[in-house]
Amino acid sequence: MERLDKFLSAQTTLSRRDASAKVRRGAVTVNGAVVRDPSQKVDPTTCAVTLDGQAVSYFRHIYIMLNKPAGILCVSRDPHAPTVVDLLPEEWRARELFPAGRLDKDTTGMVLLTDDGDFAHRMLAPKKHVPKRYLVTLDHPVDQATVASFASGMTLMSGEVCLPAKCEPLEGNEAIVTLHEGKYHQIKRMFAACSLHVEALHRLSMGGLPLDPSLAPGESRMLTDQEVMTVFL
Ligand code: URA
Repeated sequence: MERLDKFLSAQTTLSRRDASAKVRRGAVTVNGAVVRDPSQKVDPTTCAVTLDGQAVSYFRHIYIMLNKPAGILCVSRDPHAPTVVDLLPEEWRARELFPAGRLDKDTTGMVLLTDDGDFAHRMLAPKKHVPKRYLVTLDHPVDQATVASFASGMTLMSGEVCLPAKCEPLEGNEAIVTLHEGKYHQIKRMFAACSLHVEALHRLSMGGLPLDPSLAPGESRMLTDQEVMTVFL
């Protein structure tokens, strides 16, 4: 059971305060009867709630795609620096959201945020091998020895062994890298082991889901049910 105003702000675009105001004004019904008390407890799995005459559907979890700008921490909360959750619209922040897979502060591109712990676990479990693709800008062009080293499953300077990864050189100093795991600073450390320096890193896709090109840096949107499934295809 949860408070009606909290339920409404989590399931709609209303803030908690606007949801309370709507309830007090008589715009909300629960199981067919107008309820004017925002603190009334509802069971979201069984109650039929309407707002301004429209049914409010219940999403157990939410999944959000964000185009992360540089300079933002990829954690839920930080007392000193802006985080990916701080970039989201206020109404989504009522949820306990966290990023499913981190990017470095200076890395840009696709981040998925959710309140679904199982989803995040599936996304990150090395056995699931969900591929993540990155556009990498380096200080020099990538040679075939580097491509071979990525493909063979290289050992980092720390002694950690990486799963085989794909490195596809592009024009100039760029490459597309596909990883199936997420070690700390992994791409930077893999290129460092090949005497190359990463100047910029941008995540293009996670599993079968590409970053929506209509999202400007800092913008986010909810995933459709279909897209949530696509991540694991
Ligand atoms: N590899 C890195 O080095 N940094 C990232 O943010 C992601 C992958």
